[in-house]
Amino acid sequence: MELHPDLEAVRFLLGRWEGRGKGNYPTIEPFEYLETVWFEAGPKKPWVAYRQATKDALSGEPLHAEYGYLRVLPGHRLEMVIAQPTGIAEIHTGTVEGTHIHLRAGRVEITPGAKEVTDVERHLTVDGDQLSYRLSMAAVGHELQQHLTATLTHHGWLKTTG
Ligand code: HEM
Repeated sequence: MELHPDLEAVRFLLGRWEGRGKGNYPTIEPFEYLETVWFEAGPKKPWVAYRQATKDALSGEPLHAEYGYLRVLPGHRLEMVIAQPTGIAEIHTGTVEGTHIHLRAGRVEITPGAKEVTDVERHLTVDGDQLSYRLSMAAVGHELQQHLTATLTHHGWLKTTG
Protein backbone atom coordinates (compact mmCIF):
# COMPACT_ATOMS: atom_id res chain seq x y z
CA MET A 1 0.00 0.00 0.00
CA GLU A 2 1.28 3.42 -0.96
CA LEU A 3 2.20 5.67 1.98
CA HIS A 4 1.16 9.34 1.90
CA PRO A 5 4.44 11.36 1.60
CA ASP A 6 3.73 13.32 4.81
CA LEU A 7 3.78 10.05 6.75
CA GLU A 8 7.49 9.54 6.08
CA ALA A 9 8.09 11.61 9.25
CA VAL A 10 6.32 8.98 11.39
CA ARG A 11 7.07 5.82 9.40
CA PHE A 12 9.12 4.59 12.38
CA LEU A 13 5.86 4.15 14.36
CA LEU A 14 4.04 1.88 11.96
CA GLY A 15 3.22 -1.70 12.82
CA ARG A 16 2.33 -3.73 15.88
CA TRP A 17 4.20 -3.37 19.18
CA GLU A 18 4.07 -5.53 22.29
CA GLY A 19 5.54 -4.93 25.72
CA ARG A 20 5.15 -4.09 29.34
CA GLY A 21 4.56 -1.01 31.46
CA LYS A 22 4.19 0.36 34.96
CA GLY A 23 1.56 2.72 36.26
CA ASN A 24 1.15 4.86 39.32
CA TYR A 25 -0.61 7.96 40.61
CA PRO A 26 -0.91 9.43 44.11
CA THR A 27 -4.49 8.15 44.46
CA ILE A 28 -4.02 4.52 43.34
CA GLU A 29 -1.93 1.41 44.01
CA PRO A 30 1.04 0.98 41.60
CA PHE A 31 0.40 -1.62 38.89
CA GLU A 32 2.15 -3.38 36.00
CA TYR A 33 0.58 -4.13 32.65
CA LEU A 34 1.12 -5.91 29.32
CA GLU A 35 0.27 -3.86 26.24
CA THR A 36 -0.25 -4.27 22.51
CA VAL A 37 -0.18 -1.15 20.30
CA TRP A 38 -1.10 -0.86 16.62
CA PHE A 39 -0.18 2.09 14.36
CA GLU A 40 -1.65 1.72 10.88
CA ALA A 41 -1.20 4.23 8.05
CA GLY A 42 -4.34 5.51 6.37
CA PRO A 43 -4.27 4.43 2.70
CA LYS A 44 -2.81 7.39 0.77
CA LYS A 45 -3.92 9.67 3.64
CA PRO A 46 -1.71 11.75 6.00
CA TRP A 47 -3.02 10.07 9.12
CA VAL A 48 -2.23 7.03 11.22
CA ALA A 49 -4.87 4.96 13.01
CA TYR A 50 -3.85 4.07 16.57
CA ARG A 51 -5.14 1.43 18.95
CA GLN A 52 -3.88 -0.06 22.17
CA ALA A 53 -5.11 -2.70 24.60
CA THR A 54 -3.70 -3.67 27.98
CA LYS A 55 -4.07 -6.34 30.61
CA ASP A 56 -2.91 -6.70 34.18
CA ALA A 57 0.58 -8.28 34.19
CA LEU A 58 -0.25 -10.43 37.23
CA SER A 59 -3.88 -11.51 36.73
CA GLY A 60 -4.19 -11.19 32.95
CA GLU A 61 -7.44 -9.25 33.42
CA PRO A 62 -8.16 -6.58 30.78
CA LEU A 63 -7.25 -3.04 31.86
CA HIS A 64 -7.28 0.19 29.86
CA ALA A 65 -7.73 0.45 26.06
CA GLU A 66 -7.89 3.39 23.65
CA TYR A 67 -8.34 4.35 20.00
CA GLY A 68 -7.12 7.43 18.15
CA TYR A 69 -5.87 9.13 15.02
CA LEU A 70 -2.53 10.85 14.54
CA ARG A 71 -2.48 13.56 11.86
CA VAL A 72 0.77 14.76 10.29
CA LEU A 73 0.80 18.40 9.19
CA PRO A 74 3.44 20.36 7.28
CA GLY A 75 6.54 21.27 9.31
CA HIS A 76 6.53 18.02 11.29
CA ARG A 77 3.61 19.31 13.35
CA LEU A 78 1.28 16.69 14.77
CA GLU A 79 -2.32 16.58 15.91
CA MET A 80 -3.85 13.63 17.68
CA VAL A 81 -7.27 12.72 19.02
CA ILE A 82 -7.55 9.82 21.46
CA ALA A 83 -10.78 8.34 22.81
CA GLN A 84 -10.92 6.23 25.94
CA PRO A 85 -13.65 3.84 27.10
CA THR A 86 -13.62 5.68 30.45
CA GLY A 87 -15.30 8.75 28.88
CA ILE A 88 -12.13 10.77 28.29
CA ALA A 89 -11.19 12.42 24.97
CA GLU A 90 -7.69 13.90 24.53
CA ILE A 91 -7.16 16.62 21.89
CA HIS A 92 -3.38 16.91 21.32
CA THR A 93 -0.98 19.06 19.36
CA GLY A 94 2.70 18.19 19.14
CA THR A 95 5.85 17.63 17.17
CA VAL A 96 8.01 14.86 15.76
CA GLU A 97 11.79 15.31 15.89
CA GLY A 98 13.75 12.35 14.55
CA THR A 99 12.07 9.39 16.23
CA HIS A 100 10.75 11.34 19.22
CA ILE A 101 7.13 12.42 19.47
CA HIS A 102 5.86 14.94 21.99
CA LEU A 103 2.14 15.52 22.45
CA ARG A 104 0.40 17.85 24.87
CA ALA A 105 -3.35 18.01 25.22
CA GLY A 106 -4.48 21.58 25.00
CA ARG A 107 -7.92 20.17 25.70
CA VAL A 108 -9.28 17.14 27.50
CA GLU A 109 -13.03 16.58 27.33
CA ILE A 110 -14.82 14.20 29.71
CA THR A 111 -18.30 12.72 29.82
CA PRO A 112 -20.44 13.57 32.89
CA GLY A 113 -19.69 10.21 34.54
CA ALA A 114 -15.92 10.19 33.88
CA LYS A 115 -13.08 10.80 36.33
CA GLU A 116 -11.79 14.38 36.14
CA VAL A 117 -8.76 14.72 33.79
CA THR A 118 -7.67 18.25 32.79
CA ASP A 119 -4.30 17.74 31.06
CA VAL A 120 -2.30 14.93 29.43
CA GLU A 121 1.27 14.89 28.09
CA ARG A 122 2.72 12.01 26.07
CA HIS A 123 6.37 11.41 25.08
CA LEU A 124 7.15 8.51 22.73
CA THR A 125 10.55 7.44 21.36
CA VAL A 126 11.52 4.67 18.97
CA ASP A 127 15.08 3.32 19.11
CA GLY A 128 15.59 0.45 16.65
CA ASP A 129 12.84 -2.08 17.38
CA GLN A 130 12.09 -0.61 20.82
CA LEU A 131 9.30 1.87 21.49
CA SER A 132 9.18 3.55 24.86
CA TYR A 133 6.69 6.09 26.12
CA ARG A 134 5.78 7.99 29.22
CA LEU A 135 2.46 9.61 30.00
CA SER A 136 1.65 12.29 32.56
CA MET A 137 -1.79 13.52 33.51
CA ALA A 138 -3.45 16.11 35.71
CA ALA A 139 -6.40 14.25 37.21
CA VAL A 140 -8.74 14.07 40.20
CA GLY A 141 -7.38 17.33 41.66
CA HIS A 142 -3.66 16.56 41.20
CA GLU A 143 -1.23 18.55 39.05
CA LEU A 144 0.42 17.08 35.92
CA GLN A 145 2.51 14.06 36.91
CA GLN A 146 3.47 10.64 35.67
CA HIS A 147 0.83 7.91 35.33
CA LEU A 148 2.56 5.46 32.93
CA THR A 149 5.89 4.33 31.50
CA ALA A 150 6.29 1.40 29.10
CA THR A 151 8.67 -0.25 26.66
CA LEU A 152 7.44 -2.28 23.69
CA THR A 153 9.14 -4.27 20.92
CA HIS A 154 8.23 -4.19 17.25
CA HIS A 155 6.25 -7.30 16.28
CA GLY A 156 5.60 -6.85 12.60
CA TRP A 157 3.97 -4.70 9.99
CA LEU A 158 0.28 -4.26 9.27
CA LYS A 159 -0.91 -4.89 5.74
CA THR A 160 -1.48 -1.20 4.87
CA THR A 161 1.88 -0.09 6.26
CA GLY A 162 4.26 -2.07 4.08
C1 HEM B 1 -1.73 1.85 29.40
C2 HEM B 1 -2.79 2.62 29.67
C3 HEM B 1 -3.42 2.69 31.05
C4 HEM B 1 -3.53 1.74 32.00
C5 HEM B 1 -3.05 0.30 31.95
C6 HEM B 1 -4.21 2.36 33.11
C7 HEM B 1 -4.51 1.71 34.30
C8 HEM B 1 -5.09 2.30 35.39
C9 HEM B 1 -5.39 1.61 36.63
C10 HEM B 1 -5.09 0.13 36.91
C11 HEM B 1 -5.95 2.51 37.47
C12 HEM B 1 -6.39 2.27 38.92
C13 HEM B 1 -7.66 1.54 39.02
C14 HEM B 1 -8.76 2.21 38.28
O1 HEM B 1 -9.16 3.34 38.65
O2 HEM B 1 -9.21 1.62 37.28
C15 HEM B 1 -6.05 3.76 36.74
C16 HEM B 1 -6.62 4.91 37.23
C17 HEM B 1 -6.81 6.04 36.49
N1 HEM B 1 -6.35 6.29 35.22
FE1 HEM B 1 -5.33 5.03 34.07
N2 HEM B 1 -4.50 3.65 32.83
C18 HEM B 1 -4.04 3.90 31.56
C19 HEM B 1 -4.14 5.08 30.87
C20 HEM B 1 -4.78 6.20 31.31
C21 HEM B 1 -4.93 7.41 30.57
C22 HEM B 1 -4.42 7.63 29.15
C23 HEM B 1 -5.63 8.28 31.36
C24 HEM B 1 -6.07 9.69 31.11
C25 HEM B 1 -5.57 10.45 30.20
C26 HEM B 1 -5.90 7.60 32.60
C27 HEM B 1 -6.59 8.14 33.65
C28 HEM B 1 -6.81 7.52 34.84
C29 HEM B 1 -7.57 8.12 35.93
C30 HEM B 1 -8.24 9.48 35.92
C31 HEM B 1 -7.57 7.19 36.96
C32 HEM B 1 -8.28 7.31 38.29
C33 HEM B 1 -7.43 7.89 39.38
C34 HEM B 1 -8.25 7.93 40.65
O3 HEM B 1 -9.38 7.47 40.69
O4 HEM B 1 -7.76 8.46 41.63
N3 HEM B 1 -5.36 6.34 32.54
N4 HEM B 1 -5.49 3.60 35.50
